[in-house]
Amino acid sequence: MATLKFDWNSLYNELSGCTKCRLCEQRRNIVIADGDPHAGIMFIGEGPGREEDESGVPFVGAAGRLFNELLEEADLDRRNCYICNVVKCRPPQNRDPLPDEAEACLPYLRAQVALVHPKVIVCLGRIAARYVYDRDIQISRQRGCVKKAGAFYIIPTYHPAALLRRADLTNDFVADLIAAKKLFEKLESGEEILL
Ligand code: URA
Ligand code: SF4
Repeated sequence: MATLKFDWNSLYNELSGCTKCRLCEQRRNIVIADGDPHAGIMFIGEGPGREEDESGVPFVGAAGRLFNELLEEADLDRRNCYICNVVKCRPPQNRDPLPDEAEACLPYLRAQVALVHPKVIVCLGRIAARYVYDRDIQISRQRGCVKKAGAFYIIPTYHPAALLRRADLTNDFVADLIAAKKLFEKLESGEEILL
């Protein structure tokens, strides 16, 4: 997942005004990322919703507020993580990004992964997990299962929006955040990781 085609400047330059897919037509803002570009833990969501499109910041709507709360519960600070999405422009009516839209936008995500170079990547929901973890992901079966891919450890979990509809999934979600944090701390300390 890591071709160094971009540095931060060229990434932001190419992203600004991007028209590589039809999602450019209705967006108000391109939503690139929030948090620390030197973070050890990176979260990847699906794509901006209405409030993200309006503000240009990922995960600031209802799902984002819940996400912030649960990060705190896992003793993680959003400001110390890097948070982004598979597609940078809002799909109309919050529909899933179409495969060609995701494919058009993935080079930017690959660049973000390469430039941030996190130790742990958490995929929030099926769409992110599909493009980053496993094409045939079944979140309910595979959530929390760590996979090593190149230099990165990847953990899929639920999308925070799913928890708004299914509060019973919250404990598993928080457990996955805690697992990501513990894995990061182990990697930081140079401890051997046995998957
Ligand atoms: N849902 C996402 O997947 N990403 C956001 O930034 C907001 C909501
Ligand atoms: Fe460009 Fe990605 Fe926006 Fe499509 S979603 S226009 S590829 S930035």
